[in-house]
Formats: sequence, C-alpha cells, structure tokens
Amino acid sequence: MSPMLAFLGLSIMGTWGAASIALVIGGIILLVAPGDISTNSGSTLPGIVLIVIGALSLAVAQLVTAPLLGLDPPLPLSAKKIIPVGKLTRWVKAVPLRELPDGTPKELRVRGKRILFIRQGDNVSAMGALCSHARLPLGGFPGSPIKAEPVRDGCVMCPFHGARFEVDSGQVVRQPFDSQFNQAHPFLGGLQSKIFRLLSAPPMPPMVPKPSMKAEDMQTYPCKVENGEVMVALPPK
Ligand code: FES
Repeated sequence: MSPMLAFLGLSIMGTWGAASIALVIGGIILLVAPGDISTNSGSTLPGIVLIVIGALSLAVAQLVTAPLLGLDPPLPLSAKKIIPVGKLTRWVKAVPLRELPDGTPKELRVRGKRILFIRQGDNVSAMGALCSHARLPLGGFPGSPIKAEPVRDGCVMCPFHGARFEVDSGQVVRQPFDSQFNQAHPFLGGLQSKIFRLLSAPPMPPMVPKPSMKAEDMQTYPCKVENGEVMVALPPK
C-alpha cells in the first residue's frame, strides 16, 4: 500500500468518521437526554434521523476509504470458506527468513494474497492477514499507532478489537471486545464495542451492513524454510 494513499485514506476516514460518529452521538443525546421536558415533544424523530444518517454516513465513508487503505469490505469471513490444509499444495517462495521479525507477525502479499507470517525462532507459520471479525489487518496499519501485537501463548491478537487466534491452527480462542481488552483500550475496545452493538441493532434500516460481534477461525497456510527462504503453500491455480 502506498504511504500517500494510506495517509489520504486515514485523513478522510478520520474527518468523515468523526463527523458521522458525532451525528450518531447527537441522535442518541436527543433520544436519551432531550433537555427541557416542556419543549422536547419533537425530539424522538430527529434523534432517530440523526442516528440513521450518521450510520449511513459511516458505512459510505468505509466504502470510499477502504480501497485507499487496501482493505477488503468489512464482511465476516465464514469458517466454511476455509480451505483444508491438505489442499494447499502449491509451494511458492515468500520472503527470506531474516526479513521476518522474531515474535511479531508481519503481513506480506504473496502472489496477490495478503498473508500474515509469524516467525518464532526458526519456525514460521502463516494465516490470512485480515481478521475474520471485521476484516481489518492483523498486522495493523503501517505508520500508525495500530501495530501488530507480539505473539503471546502461541496466539496472535488482533490489534483492533482484541480477538485472539492460535498461530498453528488459526482457531479463534478469544472473541473481539473481551472485557479485559475493552478496559485496556477505551477507544478501540470500549467505545467501538458500543458502536458495533448500536449498528447491529434496531432501528438500523436493513440496507445498513450489520457489523458482526464475532470472529471465526482463520485460514492457515503451511510454511517451511529452505536455504534461508520461507516457502508457503497456496491453493492450486
Ligand atoms: S477486526 Fe479483529 S477483532 Fe475486530
């Protein structure tokens, strides 16, 4: 991803996203704290309208800025789409081992696929680079404060909402928005869990894409190291 496009995407998303969230919050305030009871008879409808416009605006902002950030649409990746490891038979060169940081996942694009490589000493594992919760990159955004988390207890953690996946199997071992994560991350966890819940609940119109609160197991890819080069097995063409 070009740093210029990423900067542009982040700038637009920041401004547009903040304005959309402000609309949603304004709507909620109108609904729950309408002010002077004697003059608030008409605040329910404007509150709902503000929430709906804010949510629609957030959805459109995502559609516009996601390609600039190199993101795929925020759709949950279904577990049934996982390709069995036995069918991954096309071995291709990915990267020299020395270019992978030890203990911290790194995303690379191999033959057009976004893959997260996890080096632990001389062993390398790989899984899909986009989290199965909201398809955000497990390796974080380059150049931003949201970075890949070091491997802990054989698991990688999504830096966005805290889902954890076993490195070897790709199994989800902790769902997003765990209370411990939310407490430690008031914006990415505490606030965003509320926004996700709000957007997936009524009175959102059916055309607003409903964000999922759950992560699914991740696709893994077999890896081996030959002559200092990391090889990864992809599906046959
Ligand atoms: S995008 Fe990974 S936990 Fe939400």
